[in-house]
Amino acid sequence: MSPATPTRPEPVERATPLPRIRLLATGGTIAGAQTGGSRSYQAGAFSIDALIQAVPQLATLARLEVEQVAALGSQDMNEAIWLKLAARAEAALADPDIAAVVITHGTDTMEETGYFLNLTVHSPKPVVLVGAMRPATEISADGPMNLYNAVAVAASPDTRNRGVLVVANDEIHFAREVSKTNTTQVGTFKASHRGLAGLVHAGRLHLYAPPVLRHTTASEFSLAGLPALPRVDIVYAHAGMGRELIDAAVRAGAKGLVIAGVGDGNLNEAALTATAAAARAGVAVVRSSRTGGGVVERNIEVDDDALGFIASDELNPQKARVLLMLGLTRTADPRALQELFFTY
Ligand code: SIN
Repeated sequence: MSPATPTRPEPVERATPLPRIRLLATGGTIAGAQTGGSRSYQAGAFSIDALIQAVPQLATLARLEVEQVAALGSQDMNEAIWLKLAARAEAALADPDIAAVVITHGTDTMEETGYFLNLTVHSPKPVVLVGAMRPATEISADGPMNLYNAVAVAASPDTRNRGVLVVANDEIHFAREVSKTNTTQVGTFKASHRGLAGLVHAGRLHLYAPPVLRHTTASEFSLAGLPALPRVDIVYAHAGMGRELIDAAVRAGAKGLVIAGVGDGNLNEAALTATAAAARAGVAVVRSSRTGGGVVERNIEVDDDALGFIASDELNPQKARVLLMLGLTRTADPRALQELFFTY
């Protein structure tokens, strides 16, 4: 070919194909559709295929394959679906050709599902939960960018071995740390203790330090052969609290109780009497806090040693419930359960 001959650039061959990512869909506002043009909407109305079609740029990040595991608002998320989700995620990640799992989920209980998976999916590969605060039909819906960012985070080999992550509002959170803190704002997710996992801007990642507590591959919890999780109830403490709800939870068969205590996980005399009786009867009692932040330490205003209680350490009531359910699959000993709260 003479040097003067104009040449057409050859199509660029990628050295490696885009990563294959399994998308497990469960519904949520990210798949929500407004009803009748008003602010009311139905969560989980759109299929995962429809969500993907709305973001054609996803095709530049990964080869996506989808599975609709559920189609609900996450207020209806439950332990049976957690068991199914964990099994579907583990099955996908066991395929050597699958690089990661992304889970679309409502924001209301995302922190619980994410923490559950953080303790039960035994894989170093990324597992990323994503949701949205505005329904897909809303002005300036946040779902499409959140989904794009979540797939970018999952597609990055740098997010392996960081535990389960949550992506929303340009932030990457550790599922263990994140909590929904606002009813409606897109910046609802906050991490009150150990901070952010990173940031993600239009698919570009800025990762911070990896987690130091045990998760995923180092977790001792196994769901193999487990038909259901033990019942654990949360009771919310308040001024003038009575003992009735604690007694009712025990009568209903709770194997564990999490008290969303006032302040530093405190509870009044009536509630203390009832929880002490529950602990003597073999119910695991965890003191957490309704404050939304801070560590609940042992033996400050409550004599945990004498009463056989467990302090929730950094975990808010809803996350303490997840860990207690899993802990009770291994032991009912309060001291051993306390160790789990320091470990996970
Ligand atoms: C839900 O959790 O399913 C509803 C709220 C949301 O997704 O933001």
